[in-house]
Amino acid sequence: MKFFIDTADTSEIRTAAQLGILDGVTTNPSLIAKSGRPFKEVILEICELVDGPVSAEVTATDTEGMIREGREFASWADNIVVKIPLTPDGLKACKTLTDEGIGVNVTLCFSTNQALLAARAGATYISPFIGRLDDLGQSGMDLIEEIVAAYANYPNIHTQVLVASIRHPRHVAESALLGAHVATIPFNIIDKMFQHPLTDIGLEKFLKDWEKVPQA
Ligand code: E4P
Repeated sequence: MKFFIDTADTSEIRTAAQLGILDGVTTNPSLIAKSGRPFKEVILEICELVDGPVSAEVTATDTEGMIREGREFASWADNIVVKIPLTPDGLKACKTLTDEGIGVNVTLCFSTNQALLAARAGATYISPFIGRLDDLGQSGMDLIEEIVAAYANYPNIHTQVLVASIRHPRHVAESALLGAHVATIPFNIIDKMFQHPLTDIGLEKFLKDWEKVPQA
């Protein structure tokens, strides 16, 4: 499974990249707003920091506007992936951009049928938002299971399942068990993935015992 980080905070991205486990970055307009920086400036800095796909989301809602924005973003750096919402206009834009060789991440997916439509439009990635479904009392993980199974029935589908809206480390483990290709993970959850109290206790004991080893 590949790990992307879901943030526009470049200090978080730098730290995660230094861990050596980072394959890419996803952003969205809310995350860009949270960074408090101009969109192009922050996306270009992220593209320098990470040697992998960086999703930059369009804000136009009509096909032509999305295509225009997508082409512009793609001209900024080789590793930009254009993020497009799962609407009829969005999927038309997705088809045009993917036909031009531009990577597209179709976002705001909440159903298997939406994921099938995105695959038909040639999306590079489909982003089902599992945490937001869980928030409604539905099962985000069931959606991942369905999409992975449905895509697996068709060898000509090359769209990668990018699990988004992750809320806790178990979401990542379960996505991997289901065979999702990518998880985009907030920084605080990447941090939690490293943690286990038995690791800390075990390390402390090893170091204490090491002090008893006679020095040569
Ligand atoms: C994914 O691409 C989105 O940016 C993100 O995962 C949304 O997560 P949220 O539901 O926590 O806002």
